[in-house]
Amino acid sequence: MKIAVYPGSFDPCTNGHLSIIRRTAAVFDRVYVAILNNNSKNPLFTLDERIDFLTRITRDLPNVEIDCFSGMLIDYVHAKNAQVIIRGLRAVSDFEYEFQMALTNRKLAPDVETLFMATEARYSYLSSSIVKEVATLGGCLDDLVPDEIREDILQKTNKMGVL
Ligand code: PNS
Repeated sequence: MKIAVYPGSFDPCTNGHLSIIRRTAAVFDRVYVAILNNNSKNPLFTLDERIDFLTRITRDLPNVEIDCFSGMLIDYVHAKNAQVIIRGLRAVSDFEYEFQMALTNRKLAPDVETLFMATEARYSYLSSSIVKEVATLGGCLDDLVPDEIREDILQKTNKMGVL
């Protein structure tokens, strides 16, 4: 059984995240999408909201489970008997941070591999921060986030009125 963990903040999840989840689910037997539960990152969306968004957009993927974790990622990966951490790579600018994280995780747990999946070109500019900025400024989220969660994101950012 090949098991992958796709960790992240998902604040909120974007079409780029969904694309990585779908492509990972096509390659692995089981995929845990693991949301970091860490308030020090000051997420805009609550953990429950982020779980709900991801659950709704992955409904048609039976081998994907939405979960959360706190503490060390590698402990979570071991607890799930996963062999692989998946991270999406957009541009060169992602690389330094991702490389540092992958090497740290490798030092901590040499039995776990980090695999990078190249983003689809059409999503290479997309990030959760961009989505929050566009939504907060009243812009259109079409093609940036899955249709099922677009209104929920707009509602929340309308209420907040700030980034
Ligand atoms: O979507 P993000 O915010 O880029 O995801 C970052 C995440 C959650 C993968 C990373 O912050 C993480 O793994 N945090 C858990 C703490 C940990 O294990 N740190 C050691 C590896 S650097």
